[in-house]
Amino acid sequence: MKTITKATLVGLATTILAHTATAEEISVGLLLPYSGVYAALGNEIDAGFQLGLETFGGETDATFKVVREDTEVTPGVGLGKARKLILQDKVDVIAGVVSSGVLAAVRDVVDGAKVPLIVANAGNDEATGESCSPYIIRMSFSNMQVNRPMGRWMFDQGIKKVYTLAPDYAAGHQMIDAFAASYTASGGEVVGQAYTPFQKTEDFGPFLAEAKASGADAVYVFYAGGEAISFVKQYDSFGLKADLPLFGSGFLTSPLYVKAEGPAAEGVITALHYVPTLDNAPNAAFVTAFEAANGHLPSEFAVQGYDSARALIEAVKSGATDAETIAAALPKVTFDGPRGALSIDAATNNVVQPIYVYETVAGDNGLTQKVLATLPAEADPANGCVMK
Ligand code: BEZ
Repeated sequence: MKTITKATLVGLATTILAHTATAEEISVGLLLPYSGVYAALGNEIDAGFQLGLETFGGETDATFKVVREDTEVTPGVGLGKARKLILQDKVDVIAGVVSSGVLAAVRDVVDGAKVPLIVANAGNDEATGESCSPYIIRMSFSNMQVNRPMGRWMFDQGIKKVYTLAPDYAAGHQMIDAFAASYTASGGEVVGQAYTPFQKTEDFGPFLAEAKASGADAVYVFYAGGEAISFVKQYDSFGLKADLPLFGSGFLTSPLYVKAEGPAAEGVITALHYVPTLDNAPNAAFVTAFEAANGHLPSEFAVQGYDSARALIEAVKSGATDAETIAAALPKVTFDGPRGALSIDAATNNVVQPIYVYETVAGDNGLTQKVLATLPAEADPANGCVMK
C-alpha cells in the first residue's frame, strides 16, 4: 500500500492552490436576438458558441460563464442590453449581435467601456471601416465581403442586367451597394432597385411586379431569416424563377431555413463564407458534432458562433485574462476552421476568408448546397479605419 506522507500532502495542497489561483473565470455576455425576425439566427449562433466552448474549452484552465441578453433585433433594446452586460454583469467580453442596425447602436458603448465585442454576425461595413475600434473584432463577415465578389462573378456568367431588392436598413443598403459597385465596374447594368420596409413586409408582390417589368436578366437580393423564407416562396409562386433567375447573398437560402423554403429554393444561386458541404477535415468534425448536438446541419450562423468561441479560447490560451488583454489578443488569432483558413486583418479587425458561390439543389436527403466556385479571400479596404 502506498504511504501518503505529510510532504506528499503539502505538495498536493500546493498543486491544488496553484491550479485554483491560475484558473480564471471569463465572463461572456451573449448579445443576440432570441425574439423577432432574426430569432432563429440568434439561437443558431448560441448553439455554435456553446459547441465551440465544449470543443475547445479544455485547451485552457479558464472557465467561461455565459450571460444571455435578447436584442429583439431592435437597436435601442440592444444598446440597453449591452450597457447592462457591461455595467451590471461586468462581463469581460461580449459576443454576438446579428443586425447591422444593432451593431451601429452598441459601437460607442463597447468602445467607451473598452470591453471587446466579438461580432458573430452583423456585417455592418462601418464597424470595421470608418467607425472601427480596437474593441470590435469581427469573426463573421462584412456586408461588402460577401457581396462584392458576386458582382464580378455574375457578370462573368454573362448576366448583363439585374434588378436588386433588399430590406430597408443598413445591411440591405450595404450589401446591395457592394454588389452593384463591382457588378457595374465589371460592365453590368443595374436597371432598377427597391428597398422593402424591414420587419414589416409580408407581401412582396408589388416589388416583384416591378422587377418583372424592369427588363432585367436576373434579380439579386439580400434577405435573411423569416423575410428570406417569405421572399423565396413568393418569388417562386409568382412564377418568376424560370425567366428571371434569382441570385443573392447566401443568407437567402441558408441551410438554417432552406427546408422551410422547400422546392422554391431549388436553383437559386448565392454566395457565402460557409456552407456545410465544404470538403475539409475541420468541417467534417464540426458538422458531425453540431448535428449530434442539435439534430440539424450547421449553417453559416452556427459556424460564426463556433469560431467566435474558439477565437476567445485562443486569446485566453495566449495569456489574456481580462477585457483589455482579450481585446489585444483577439486580432492576432488565426486558425484553420470549418470555413477554411481564417485570420483577422489588423488594419480593420475584420475576418479574412474565402467566399463560396453555391447553388441550392435537391440531394439524397433534401435540399443541399452545391459549391460552384471558390472566390479567393480578399481583405476589405480600410475605408477610413484608424485604430485608436
Ligand atoms: C445584418 O444585419 O448585418 C445581417 C443580418 C442577417 C444576416 C446577415 C447580415
